[in-house]
Amino acid sequence: HSADAQRTDLMTITRFVLNEQSKHPESRGDFSILLSHIVLGCKFVCSAVNKAGLAKLIGLAGETNVQGEEQKKLDVLSNDVFIKALISSGRTCILVSEEDEEATFVEPSKRGKYCVVFDPLDGSSNIDCGVSIGTIFGIYLIKEDHEPTVEDVLQPGKNMLAAGYCMYGSSCTLVLSTGSGVNGFTLDPSLGEFILTHPDIKIPKKGKIYSVNEGNAKNWDGPTTMYVENCKYPKDGSSPKSLRYIGSMVADVHRTLLYGGIFLYPADKKSPNGKLRVLYEVFPMSFLMEQAGGQAFTGNQR
Ligand code: AHG
Ligand code: MN
Ligand code: MN
Ligand code: MN
Repeated sequence: HSADAQRTDLMTITRFVLNEQSKHPESRGDFSILLSHIVLGCKFVCSAVNKAGLAKLIGLAGETNVQGEEQKKLDVLSNDVFIKALISSGRTCILVSEEDEEATFVEPSKRGKYCVVFDPLDGSSNIDCGVSIGTIFGIYLIKEDHEPTVEDVLQPGKNMLAAGYCMYGSSCTLVLSTGSGVNGFTLDPSLGEFILTHPDIKIPKKGKIYSVNEGNAKNWDGPTTMYVENCKYPKDGSSPKSLRYIGSMVADVHRTLLYGGIFLYPADKKSPNGKLRVLYEVFPMSFLMEQAGGQAFTGNQR
């Protein structure tokens, strides 16, 4: 019975990635090991996010923990966890995080061939009110013929080997692409495993939603203003679009992938290059969007 099979034959993220890798005979399982360390980081952050409200209450009794350390903010805590999990995988050589000013170069004895760029906690303005937040990551492969330098990570997004995000929302969902489509996995808390729940995600061809911080409209350029105006007052007689904006890129992109539409953070007078960070926010999300049959562009170029 197929219903039985669904309940008992669980496609975990580890099994899924091992299956994918077995199509490449040259693969030595390194990517699966790296991913299992990323997954561990996501599970940790998920559990920390779920306890965040409670931790605050405990925090009120004294802002310091038993060791006399000040309680770490969730984004800093998440960063520490990912940095340690990635180094201990033994498969990374350069780590670039939103929370660190400088790139981390892994010491030679623990070094591997992957570079990971990541935003450990995206949507931090939403932490204290319990709205969805996430983690974003992108993975590059370095050629093993030279000492790693920062140039190895300053590469176009299209050179990424894999990208993904984990959303800590009403459920914990990890969306991943290794360059052959996009798949979504949901954490089953009773098993502690991510199970394939959204196979081969494709963005709907047409969407009825636009997603943008309209509070910045005063500072937009002409074309952006005209575009958003047309979402509200379409000139071709079609229905106006709905507006949804969460303020966590992970959640806004996740909804866009599943329901269709457009998410934008246009440049404005305050941020002439836009607010989103290209390496660990825009590139991984663009990689996923393109892999799901969508588009990502600056306004002028891919
Ligand atoms: P972060 O919390 O990692 O610093 O990133 C926040 C980003 C992104 O998640 C979101 O799309 C955007 O900032 C929201 O910005 P506004 O509050 O300006 O709309
Ligand atoms: Mn972010
Ligand atoms: Mn962040
Ligand atoms: Mn930040």
